[in-house]
Amino acid sequence: MESLLFGTAGIPASSPKPDSRSGIVHIRELGLDCMELAWVRRVSMGEKTAAKVRQKAEECRVALSVHAPYYINLNSAEADKVAASRERILKAARAGWLCGARNIVFHAAFYHDDPPEVVYERVKGHLVELIQELRAEGNDTVLRPETTGKQSQFGTLEELLALSRDVEGVAPCVDFAHLHARTGQNNSYEEFAAILSSIEKELGQAGLEDMHIHLSGIEYGPKGEREHIMLAEADMRYVEVLQALKDFGVKGLLVCESPYQEVDALVMQKAYRRYGTIAPQGRAKIKMRDKGRDMEIAVKAGQIQQEEAELIVVNLFEGVKTPGGATGAVDKALGGLITDLIASGDFTGELNELAVLYTQGAIPAKRVMVVGLGKEEEFDLDRVRDAAGTVAKRVRQLGVKSYSTIVHGGGQAGLSVEMASQAVAEGTILALYKFLEHKSTSDEEETEIEQLTLVEFDANKLPQVEEGARIGQVAAESACLVRDLVNHPPNVATPTMLAQTARQLAEEHGLRCQVLDEEQMAELGMGALLGVAQGTQEPARFIILEHNADRKDLDTIVLVGKGLTFDSGGLSIKSGEGMEKMKTDMAGGAVVLATLRAAGILDLPLHVVGLVPATENLPGGRAYKPGDVLHSLSGQTIEIISTDAEGRLILADALAYAQRYEPQAVVDLATLTGACVVALGHMASGLMGTDAELVARLKRAGQTSAELAWELPLLKEYYRQIESTVADVKNTGGRPAGAITAGAFLSKFAQGYPWAHLDIAGTTWIERDKTYPLRSYLPTPGATGVGVRLLVQFLRDWVQ
Ligand code: BES
Ligand code: MN
Ligand code: ZN
Repeated sequence: MESLLFGTAGIPASSPKPDSRSGIVHIRELGLDCMELAWVRRVSMGEKTAAKVRQKAEECRVALSVHAPYYINLNSAEADKVAASRERILKAARAGWLCGARNIVFHAAFYHDDPPEVVYERVKGHLVELIQELRAEGNDTVLRPETTGKQSQFGTLEELLALSRDVEGVAPCVDFAHLHARTGQNNSYEEFAAILSSIEKELGQAGLEDMHIHLSGIEYGPKGEREHIMLAEADMRYVEVLQALKDFGVKGLLVCESPYQEVDALVMQKAYRRYGTIAPQGRAKIKMRDKGRDMEIAVKAGQIQQEEAELIVVNLFEGVKTPGGATGAVDKALGGLITDLIASGDFTGELNELAVLYTQGAIPAKRVMVVGLGKEEEFDLDRVRDAAGTVAKRVRQLGVKSYSTIVHGGGQAGLSVEMASQAVAEGTILALYKFLEHKSTSDEEETEIEQLTLVEFDANKLPQVEEGARIGQVAAESACLVRDLVNHPPNVATPTMLAQTARQLAEEHGLRCQVLDEEQMAELGMGALLGVAQGTQEPARFIILEHNADRKDLDTIVLVGKGLTFDSGGLSIKSGEGMEKMKTDMAGGAVVLATLRAAGILDLPLHVVGLVPATENLPGGRAYKPGDVLHSLSGQTIEIISTDAEGRLILADALAYAQRYEPQAVVDLATLTGACVVALGHMASGLMGTDAELVARLKRAGQTSAELAWELPLLKEYYRQIESTVADVKNTGGRPAGAITAGAFLSKFAQGYPWAHLDIAGTTWIERDKTYPLRSYLPTPGATGVGVRLLVQFLRDWVQ
C-alpha cells in the first residue's frame, strides 16, 4: 500500500459560508484527495454559491461524497419525497455541480422508524437506480454502504457483497463510528489493530477485497463527550489509529460526520505527516511548559543564618576580607569559617566562584553556599542573574531539592530590591532550563529543584521582594516557553502548532485568540505572506492574540513577530551547511506569543495585541520566484529579488494589518538578516525605528533586561537601495547595510503609527564560543528566549 487517502467531512448545514470555512477549502489546504459532502441540503443552494463550490471542487480535484439517503429523503416511504430528492441530485449533477469530482461516494446511512428490512429494500432500490443513472451520465459515482462486519446497511454482509458483485459502482465501506462502538472508547493501537483483524476475518471470509474505512468519532472524549479533546491528545489517538490502519493496509479513509471536522482533518493530516513512518511505540509527545511546573519561588522575612534549610546561599564581593551583612552573620555563626576561607586564598569572590561549606550543626542549615559577585564597582543586575544561575545549577548537581538564598544586590545602592529579586528569580529559572522533549534517554539523572526561598532581613521590603520574584518568574518562564518553541524541530513547531499554542495560551490566561487561515488571508489581500507560503504544503496561519481586547480606555501596543517555522531560502535556496538552524526563524513569533502570556498573567494595564504571520519558506513547483511581483495588504507591490528575503514579506502584511488597531506603538521582532549578525555579532540585537522616543524606550528596556539592543541608522539615503523599476519596492537592497535596508523595507509598511524593529537574528540562538555572551543562565547550545524579558520590561515601563 502506498499511502492512505484522506477525506474530511463537508459542509455543515450551519456553515455561514459554504465556500470558505468548508471542507472543500480544508481539503485544498491539507492536500487531501477526497472529501465527503455530508449535507446534501446544499444541493439546493443558490446558483451563485453552487458555482463557487463547483469552482473550488474543480480546483481541488476532490471527490465529493454524498451522504444518502437520510438527508435527502431517499429512505422516505412517500414516493413524491423520494422523487424530489432524486431529481435534486440529478439536476445538480447535470448542472455540473458535481463535475469537478473524481468520485462521488454515496453513504447509505439510514435512520428511520420503519423496520430495518423494509428500509433496506426501499433505499437499496432507489440508490442503485440513482447510481446507475449518475454513472450513465458520466459521473464516476460509487455507492459505499456502510458495514460493520456482520451487519450492513443493506442487510446482511452476504447481501451487501452480492450487491457489490452484481451492480457496478457499489463497494462496501467500514464505518469507524461502528468500529468505535465495538472497541469501547479507547482507541489504542493494540485495540484498534485487534478490531481490524477481527473484521478482516469476518469480511475476508466473505470474500471482501477492498475496504474503505469511514472514520468518525475518534475525537470524542473518553466518555464520549462531544467537545473535542486537546489537540496533542487527539493527535496521539490518530497516530495510533493511523498506524493500525496503515499496518492493516487500508486504501481509503474518510474523516467525516464530526461536528469538529476541521480539527479532525487537520489533526489527522498532521499526525500522518509527522508520524507517517514511525511505529506507534516510538512516538513523540508535545508538551507545553505550564506555569509553576518547574519550581516554586517563596518569599519570607527572616535571618538567613536561622533558616531551617538543606542549603542556604550567601555572597561575597571580590576583595572583601571580612564579610558583612547576611554573609557576615553566617560567618559569625560558623565561627569565622568564611573569613578563614578568604584568608587562606581559597575564595576570592570572583564572579560565579562557588564554595560549599558544611555547618556541622552550628546553624540549622546543613550546607552554606557562598557565591562570588565580582568587583563591587562592576556589579549590576545582570551579575545577579548570572550568580543566581550559577548557584541554581550547582544546587541541582548536589541533589538538593529546596534551598534558601538572600537577594543578591538587594541591599545594594543603585539596585532596587524589587529588581534584584526579579533578577534572582530570572537567573535561577533560566539557568535550570533543559530541553529534553525529543530525547528518549537522558544521560544525567538529575533531581529537579522544587523550591527556592528568598529570605529578606528587612520585613518592610517583603512586598517588593515578592513583587520582583513574581515578575521574574513570569518573565523567565515565558522566555522558557520561547526556548521550547524555538528548540522544537521544525516538523513539530509548524504554523499550525504555533496557532494551537496561541489558542492554549488564550484559554489559560484569559487572552483573545483569532487564527486566520489562508482563505481568510486571501480575502484580506495578504499577498506578500501568501506569496511566501506558496512553496510549502504546510498551511500558513496568521495568529492574533490579544490582552485586554475590550479595553478601549487603555493604550494599545501591537507586537509583531516573524513566525517563519523553517527558512530554506525558497528557490533562492540557502547552502545546506547549518540550514537546520533555520528552525529558529520563528523566534520573533514565539517571543510575541510568550510576551502576551506574560502580559496576561501580570495583568498589565495595556491593550496588547500580538500578531504572528506564520509559514514555512520552501522551494517547490508552486513556490514564488525571483522576479515575481506580490501585492501586499498595504496596497504596495513588491518585486521579489530573493525568495530568501521572506521575513520582511510576511512582516509587511502583519505591519499593514496592525494599522486597524490605531496603536500607540508597534514593535516587531524578527530573525531578519544575516547582515545584522555581521554588524553586531551575537552580543546585541539590531534596533531601528521611525520614532526616536520608542527606540529609546526599547534600548533602555534592553539594558535593564540585559537583552541588549543597538540602534542602526535608518537614513533616507538607504531607501534608494530598495527602489524597484517594475514595482513599488523590491525585497532586497544588496549586501551593503543589509540589516538597515531590511528595516527600511519594513518601515514602508509600518505607516500611521510609531514603529520600531528588533533584528534578533544574532541573539536568538547561542553556541559555546567566544563570539557569544557567556552567562550561567544561557544554554550552550540552544535557544535563548531573547526578546521576552526586554518586551515585558518595555511594557511595564510604558505604564509606570
Ligand atoms: N532568516 C534569515 C536571516 C537569518 C540569518 C536568521 C542567520 C538567523 C541567522 C532571513 O530570512 C534571510 O535569509 N535573510 C537573508 C536576506 C538577504 C537575501 C537579503 C540574509 O540575511 O542573507
Ligand atoms: Mn530567508
Ligand atoms: Zn528567514
